[in-house]
Amino acid sequence: MNVEFESAKTRLNEIGYLDLAIDPTLDLFEEIQKLKKDKNAILLAHYYQEPDIQDVADFIGDSLGLAQQAQKTKADMIVFAGVHFMAETAKILNPHKKVLLPDLKAGCSLSDSCPPPLFKKFKEKHPNHIVITYINCSAGMKAFSDIICTSSNAMKIVESLPIDQEIIFAPDKNLGNYINKRTGRNMLLWNGACIVHELFSMEKIMRLKERHPEAKFIAHPECEEAVLRLADFVGSTSQLIKFVSEDIGQTFIVGTEAGIIYKMQQIAPGKTLIPAPPDNACACNDCPHMKLNTLEKLYLCMKYELPEITMEEHLRVAAKRPIDKMLELSAKFGL
Ligand code: 13P
Ligand code: SF4
Repeated sequence: MNVEFESAKTRLNEIGYLDLAIDPTLDLFEEIQKLKKDKNAILLAHYYQEPDIQDVADFIGDSLGLAQQAQKTKADMIVFAGVHFMAETAKILNPHKKVLLPDLKAGCSLSDSCPPPLFKKFKEKHPNHIVITYINCSAGMKAFSDIICTSSNAMKIVESLPIDQEIIFAPDKNLGNYINKRTGRNMLLWNGACIVHELFSMEKIMRLKERHPEAKFIAHPECEEAVLRLADFVGSTSQLIKFVSEDIGQTFIVGTEAGIIYKMQQIAPGKTLIPAPPDNACACNDCPHMKLNTLEKLYLCMKYELPEITMEEHLRVAAKRPIDKMLELSAKFGL
């Protein structure tokens, strides 16, 4: 096992994930279930993960739900089928547990759009501002923040602060702008965005609405303002799923990453779900980072317990404070 483990580590260092040969006769669903039991592991997956991964997960959720699960789990090992900042958040909350991410390269464009050294300079120019940061950011950014938020709780967190409190909101300018418009605040916005949600084409959505006048257009607040203006409902991934299942409408144009359709279809089987068209030729609205995770990588990651998320303790402690604040406020709001 040691030689096997060392060779896995070398391979991982080369490419950021394990690509070792897998016995083709193995039933990966069964093997992953067995590994979960043997290692007392919990598998957390975001709604944007591919259906196979959602099927084998213990919990599927949005960024807030996943952080809440990571906070309360009793498992020894957390396997995160999502992107790096999500697994990092789980590690920040669980310094003594092993936290695994099937592919270390599963990053996030929003997180990348806000490098901590640049943000530090920006923050220094506005010493009286409170920093509210979207959870889609690195541990370094979290350490510079006062409160973390997700798309499920951002509005409530902003509204919980006095109206005259000056706020910097980072890194998503679209979510920040949406909250500014809804609350009448004037938060200073960092100029970051999500490559998936910025791709939706307003023109194509308008044409689709003409062809399906009965359809409701629902969108994630990471979309651009012009697209959000067309929306009948705006919400986080879990709020969009809830809306589809509870609304009397039968047809929905879905303005977020396409992985969510799988869960929506399970929860509301009779409804028609049309992925909103992006402004590109390949007509694909998959997040390239989220989709780096595969069942094979997941299996190898659980078998070899690699790649593992690690972090310096001083950074972890500094990044935990604003996450704790978010979780405390979310519990207070009943979220
Ligand atoms: P939520 O999980 O908060 O809906 O955010 C979506 C997203 O883009 C995650 O990366
Ligand atoms: Fe980041 Fe956008 Fe992918 Fe979410 S969908 S992980 S915000 S790039």
